[in-house]
Amino acid sequence: MKTRITELFGIRYPIQCGGMLWLATPELAAAISNTGAMGNLTSGNYNSADELRAAIDRTRDLTPHPFIVNITTMPSIRLPLALLQNFFRVCCEKQVKAIEIAGAPVDTFLGAEFLPMAKQAGVKVLHKVGTVKHALHAEKVGYDAVTVAGFEEGGFPHKDNVSTIILVPKVVEAVNIPVLAAGGMADGKSLAAALALGADGIMMATRFLATKESGVHSNIYQTLLEKNETDTALQLQKLLQGFGLQVRALRNDIMRRIEAIEAVDGDLAELLPLISGERARKVWQNGNIEEAMLTIGQSVGRIQDIPSVAELIPRMVREAEAALQKALARTKAN
Ligand SMILES: Cc1cc2nc3c(=O)[nH]c(=O)nc-3n(C[C@H](O)[C@H](O)[C@H](O)COP(=O)(O)O)c2cc1C
Repeated sequence: MKTRITELFGIRYPIQCGGMLWLATPELAAAISNTGAMGNLTSGNYNSADELRAAIDRTRDLTPHPFIVNITTMPSIRLPLALLQNFFRVCCEKQVKAIEIAGAPVDTFLGAEFLPMAKQAGVKVLHKVGTVKHALHAEKVGYDAVTVAGFEEGGFPHKDNVSTIILVPKVVEAVNIPVLAAGGMADGKSLAAALALGADGIMMATRFLATKESGVHSNIYQTLLEKNETDTALQLQKLLQGFGLQVRALRNDIMRRIEAIEAVDGDLAELLPLISGERARKVWQNGNIEEAMLTIGQSVGRIQDIPSVAELIPRMVREAEAALQKALARTKAN
């Protein structure tokens, strides 16, 4: 499968793993990259530039293939601006294949010198966007590609609640740089649909969470198999208003407590401990699914097994090719 994204990344299949705090580690990134897709190393897993440097080296020990480094550019106490800037510098110094920015644009948040720095190092930079306006900005300031995420996605979708099927063709028609479709992508049928909408590939995360190599607790795997597309909820619209974002996570006790606090404009001091990344980190390992905000997308409704990534990727590619051929054959037959 050759597209502008396989060419940009130098990979075999136009499928990328999205950033996943605590889960997109060297081991998962390398396993995905070894299949011919694009693994993701999430910088937020680390507390210093040196730790990220070591993680990049570790990933390179595990795969000769390219991978992308996620930098989530949002105000954070644990990950202050200076550290995010250093993460970006490390990626350039190490000449990783690509950086995935999620949040505020590099040019305004990290600084005007950062996109030229990446260009000079030969590092491709993508921005994850949830609106046409942000895609246009990314193209204008020199990003190499955009990832367009509809509000089906797990994590932090844009507040406008526009679905992937609307947003992807709008962005494809608005920009000339390559486009990855995200939000609701889970199998070969969604890959085929994204290609039909004009995207150059897909990015997905919930589906990669539901693979053997994500290494989460067996309760999490069981939950991913049992939950369906109505079991996630959008929340934190008030807290994240200033960023134009909200969160999509699994409906559970913590989400109901968050909802109650938001409904009465409750105290930030009450909210912050509930949404802390530390809680999620523990739950991925101990499997107590009621105890943290677990960012999971509507695509959970399309997950019926826990394959290895080496099984998942070729299966998706086969399914996508068959889906495209079947669609054509069906319409011709009628
Ligand atoms: C478990 C999990 C953790 C995530 N952590 C991050 C993160 O640290 N940074 C980020 O930019 N996006 C994060 N996301 C969002 C994904 O990168 C991606 O945008 C989204 O999940 C795509 O939708 P899908 O889940 O339907 O595939 C996370 C998603 C999941 C499922």
